[in-house]
Amino acid sequence: MTQTYLTLNNGLKMPQFGLGVYLVPDGKETIEACLNAFKLGVRHIDTAHAYQNERGVGEALKQSGLKREEVWITTKLWPTEYGEGKTLPAIDKMLERLQTDYIDLLLLHQQVGDYIDAWKDMEKAVKLGKVKSIGISNFKENLEDLLANATIKPAAIQVECHPYFPQNELKKRMAEFGTILESWYPIGHGDPKLINEPVFTKLAQKYGKTNVQIILRWHIQKGYSVFPKTTNPDHMRENFDIFDFELSAEDMAEIAKLNNGKRYFTDTLEQQQRFASWKPED
Ligand SMILES: NC(=O)c1ccc[n+]([C@@H]2O[C@H](COP(=O)([O-])OP(=O)(O)OC[C@H]3O[C@@H](n4cnc5c(N)ncnc54)[C@H](OP(=O)(O)O)[C@@H]3O)[C@@H](O)[C@H]2O)c1
Repeated sequence: MTQTYLTLNNGLKMPQFGLGVYLVPDGKETIEACLNAFKLGVRHIDTAHAYQNERGVGEALKQSGLKREEVWITTKLWPTEYGEGKTLPAIDKMLERLQTDYIDLLLLHQQVGDYIDAWKDMEKAVKLGKVKSIGISNFKENLEDLLANATIKPAAIQVECHPYFPQNELKKRMAEFGTILESWYPIGHGDPKLINEPVFTKLAQKYGKTNVQIILRWHIQKGYSVFPKTTNPDHMRENFDIFDFELSAEDMAEIAKLNNGKRYFTDTLEQQQRFASWKPED
């Protein structure tokens, strides 16, 4: 079995599995992590301006020798970059940092600030060919406002999602727009309690896989995009090796019982507003 793709609401096909680089220092570490992933066949990197490692991602892309169209790059705008006439220049700076002439998927990182005007500029960037697909991240209270004002409906929404918090309601809500869900903290940010849940241990034995592989396979079968972060080459190999087995409907139903509403990160509107005053370096 080979890796799977999700078809977005604009017809583009995105590799469903990727590498997330949140908290990976820019430079050598980001370059090495991306190059390791590329060597295994991973073709999707999830970064953000706020992670301050877009340069490393761009450098890895260049060093890999892969053609630009072989790799999917997602990045995210920070609220200090939101605004009509402000967001387009911010996108140009992203392109420079990533050493590319287009971004595959560009997200609004947070639901605060002038997100409506930022979206207008993102729509312009799509028309200009600087961005292929646009989406949102962490939108909750302001989701309906964004949807009502968006001419191009979001291709993706990236949110905290794992078996403790499977985002079933949001998935249903977004189906109308063909918006796919992307899972952040897919293995609970590495939480041993989640990883060692007895149901995962049982299924790992059944399929000859690891507990983490069972969790990642659950995301794939839910139809979510998943990009666990790792800088450990062994973990990277393990995480990507999830396309040669399938969880049964009964297994999926058993995992569904873990849904307890637990979130690792409570991002209230007030907290997002506080974040938004921090300005990432160019
Ligand atoms: N939009 C947003 O606001 C937002 C927020 C958070 C995250 N994200 C995105 O989602 C990505 C994933 O989230 P995350 O990095 O925070 O959490 P995560 O992927 O759930 O967990 C990462 C942790 O798990 C460990 N790990 C990875 N593979 C493992 C394995 N096979 N066995 C055991 N441990 C393993 C990693 O350590 P090692 O490096 O040692 O393997 C790391 O400590 C981020 O990198 C980022 O791209 C987006």
